[in-house]
Amino acid sequence: MDKRKECSTVVDKPRLISILGSTGSIGSNTIDLIARTPEHYIISALACKQNARLLAQQAKKLQAVFVAIEDKNAWPVLRNALAGTGIEAAAGTEAVLEAAKRPAEWTMCSIVGAAGLAPTLEAVRRGHTVALANKEALVCAGSLFIREAMRTGCQILPVDSEHNAIFQLFDSRKREGIEKITLTASGGPFRTLSRKEMACKTPSQAAAHPNWSMGTKVSIDSATIMNKGLEIIEAHYLFAIPEVQIDVLIHPESVVHSMVSYIDGSVIAQLSSPDMRTPIAYCLAWPKRMDTIIKNLDLVSIGQLSFFALDNNRFPAISLAREALRAKGDAACVMNAANEVAVEAFVAGRIGFTEISSVVYETMQRCPTEDIDNLESVFRSNAKGRRIADDIISDFTGVSIADRRRYLLLPNFSMKSVAVMHNKKI
Ligand SMILES: NC(=O)c1ccc[n+]([C@@H]2O[C@H](COP(=O)([O-])OP(=O)(O)OC[C@H]3O[C@@H](n4cnc5c(N)ncnc54)[C@H](OP(=O)(O)O)[C@@H]3O)[C@@H](O)[C@H]2O)c1
Repeated sequence: MDKRKECSTVVDKPRLISILGSTGSIGSNTIDLIARTPEHYIISALACKQNARLLAQQAKKLQAVFVAIEDKNAWPVLRNALAGTGIEAAAGTEAVLEAAKRPAEWTMCSIVGAAGLAPTLEAVRRGHTVALANKEALVCAGSLFIREAMRTGCQILPVDSEHNAIFQLFDSRKREGIEKITLTASGGPFRTLSRKEMACKTPSQAAAHPNWSMGTKVSIDSATIMNKGLEIIEAHYLFAIPEVQIDVLIHPESVVHSMVSYIDGSVIAQLSSPDMRTPIAYCLAWPKRMDTIIKNLDLVSIGQLSFFALDNNRFPAISLAREALRAKGDAACVMNAANEVAVEAFVAGRIGFTEISSVVYETMQRCPTEDIDNLESVFRSNAKGRRIADDIISDFTGVSIADRRRYLLLPNFSMKSVAVMHNKKI
């Protein structure tokens, strides 16, 4: 009997599922996997921000019970598209929260950015199983989310390919035998460039990831390697492992997704094609496995795999993330907020590529660390980080990108001092 077919029985009875952020890259891949065997699932709720047409199409295809759209301007399109289908629908931030509260045994949390925090927390509080793609939940409020998951017995399954790999390899019964975990990073499209060469790259060049097809924000984070910085923070909370035991290794082929090193010298790695449908399928079928159309790796045709040490000088984001973890409190939340603002400013042409890490660094310097106790304090810290990052970017109004780049190549860059230097013509 075909082993792939034999193992493809995912569930014994249909599973009640919700997808928050269903129209994005992760959400759409989840829908595609579900649509292969729709009889295994009942779709409780779908939610997105504004893509009413795609949301309606998904809801009709999978016969969802409830759909929510955050942007009220998109409501008329959604309402018309669902007229006569019997599918319940609502608009606004509360509607997205309602989608997260609807009964579900398994929820994909894939809303991008800080907007995903409250819905993800609702899903964790409801218990059962949460497939976690939204990095910000653990980056901004790791202790809070893990505490709530332990309280409700919620099983968090990491969707990020690196954490998903570690989840498959990490033997928590032998925790004392684990020496370190290693997160691999492709190095992004600018892996071999100097900081000077990176400085003139455009948003579309930064978003063109060599191996993975992902949303714009996460692709640009891969180019700055801030994505890996965020992943160090995620890994710290997911696996309760100190930051010093989390390594990063550049691996351009993106075939080895991560590794766990044991004290006896064993290193266990997880390999697969760079296709997010593999970790999503793992989460969807967990604790079983499901058949997908993704081909198994052909290592002979790949031929060779390469690994390089990370250059922290060219890619300062990892050092910033480690500093944020060591600082505790809201430092990682502030860092994440500054990064979001800086990436938005880069996409809008307001700052250059290498200035993204400069804005994050300067924001962290200006923000004293505060405690995070609840979601309200997360939102305050997020707003604080966003405001300060925005102020820093505004300091540059009237200063040409070319002039700023000259100064930002200095090792001890400081956005404010650059602006001051420029105005004084030093
Ligand atoms: N893509 C990847 O390969 C990948 C890998 C690892 C981790 N992740 C993480 O997974 C998350 C999703 O990434 P992605 O690449 O799928 O992002 P994406 O393609 O940009 O999709 C984001 C999704 O979130 C929805 N959304 C945004 N703001 C919302 C709001 N206020 N309320 C409700 N829904 C909202 C979007 O709706 P609209 O479509 O209507 O705007 C969309 O469905 C991110 O945190 C990312 O870091 C992604």
